[in-house]
Amino acid sequence: MGKLFTGRLQVSIDVGTTKICVLVAQQLDQDRVEILGVGKAPSYGLHKGVVVDVAKTIHSIKAAVAEAEIMAGVKIEQALLGIAGAHISSRNCHGAVPIKTGEIRDYDIKAVLAAARAFPIPEGQQILHVLPQYFSIDGQEPLQDPCGMHGIRLEVNAHIIMGAITSVQNLIKCCQKAGVKVQDIILEQLASADAVLCSDEQKLGVGVLDIGGGTADLAIFQHGSIRHTKVFAIAGNHFTNDLAVGLRASQNEAERLKRTYGFSYFEPNKTDQMVEVKLVHGYQKEMVHIDEIAFILKARAQELLEFIKLEIEQHHLQLFMRAGLVLTGGGSLLLGMKDLAQSMLKMPVRIGRPRIEFGLPDSLENPIYSTSYGLIIHTLKKEKNNASKKYGPLASRVFARMKSWVAEFF
Ligand SMILES: Nc1ncnc2c1ncn2[C@@H]1O[C@H](COP(=O)(O)OP(=O)(O)OP(=O)(O)O)[C@@H](O)[C@H]1O
Ligand SMILES: [Mg+2]
Repeated sequence: MGKLFTGRLQVSIDVGTTKICVLVAQQLDQDRVEILGVGKAPSYGLHKGVVVDVAKTIHSIKAAVAEAEIMAGVKIEQALLGIAGAHISSRNCHGAVPIKTGEIRDYDIKAVLAAARAFPIPEGQQILHVLPQYFSIDGQEPLQDPCGMHGIRLEVNAHIIMGAITSVQNLIKCCQKAGVKVQDIILEQLASADAVLCSDEQKLGVGVLDIGGGTADLAIFQHGSIRHTKVFAIAGNHFTNDLAVGLRASQNEAERLKRTYGFSYFEPNKTDQMVEVKLVHGYQKEMVHIDEIAFILKARAQELLEFIKLEIEQHHLQLFMRAGLVLTGGGSLLLGMKDLAQSMLKMPVRIGRPRIEFGLPDSLENPIYSTSYGLIIHTLKKEKNNASKKYGPLASRVFARMKSWVAEFF
């Protein structure tokens, strides 16, 4: 321990349903980080993205943190934490306020965002994120950053994300008991999106679907801001369970079959390939036709994609998805998933991997790391945004200088 680093350290913890992943990164400049360490431990204390066993979760977090500490040669004290689960809900809100001095300042923006979040919050829920989609001044064209502009009335459309207070508290408690202070808590699909989407896609309009072990998390972006989020309680583990039940195989065997065969070969009656399957007790084996494996997996994939299709149709999201859908998370690796999504949703679909420029690129460019890497990138972007707002946009700085020159003449 005790290596010397020149850049600021940033740590993320992705508490997933199948694995807990800790990343230690060093900030190189405003936009770039170098990964210094990774720690990973199997997760046994979560169900569908929510902590159900505090002791097991703490144990796994400790193991992943210790591994990352050794690799990076640092002591981890605080971290960014991802949150998901079926308790997450979201809505689009609108707020409006008069502009106090005629010129929009930080406090006007805070006031209009506070107005947007002034709605009755369901009991037991708390607001996790208030994400501005766009602002407008006196009913004019939408703007991303109104700071420094002039007008009478400021309006905002914002996407508000809520989560169950108890689920959030349990997750934070597990981290703290594992010896790590929680610096910020971020919705997992927002993080994954920052790891796998490029800014052009986010401007044009794109969806990201993180298919993990317990939940599939959807987020849709356009013009660089969030439009829609939704958590579905179907993901990778359901595929494994279906295979285990359908073939009377053990969980490990079902997991192996799922990863090896998927359902991309599935064209009924086109192949005679038989696969040896270890049955549940391990001492008996059975020959199963490959079509049978594919049939079970494809049925579950169709169910998940039907939910996504319904969500897109119900909320008229096609318009926001001109660049299509990006699949990420371990479940996106299921052979056949991408092609089925493309044909059912009738839009371009690709698999998104974290684009890691510095440090350990090969091993980390896997969709299972999108959330952990994204937590760091998301925070970097947020800090950069806040820093630019602190000094105001270029136009307002120039305008302020001009006002001071004019003042000098009188
Ligand atoms: N090659 C593969 N083919 C099919 N599925 C895979 C493959 N690799 C991993 N998976 C599946 O991905 C899932 C784990 O993905 P991931 O690590 O993204 O989930 P998680 O973050 O732990 O869970 P969650 O985000 O739901 O809390 C498991 O169900 C696993 O079986
Ligand atoms: Mg995950």
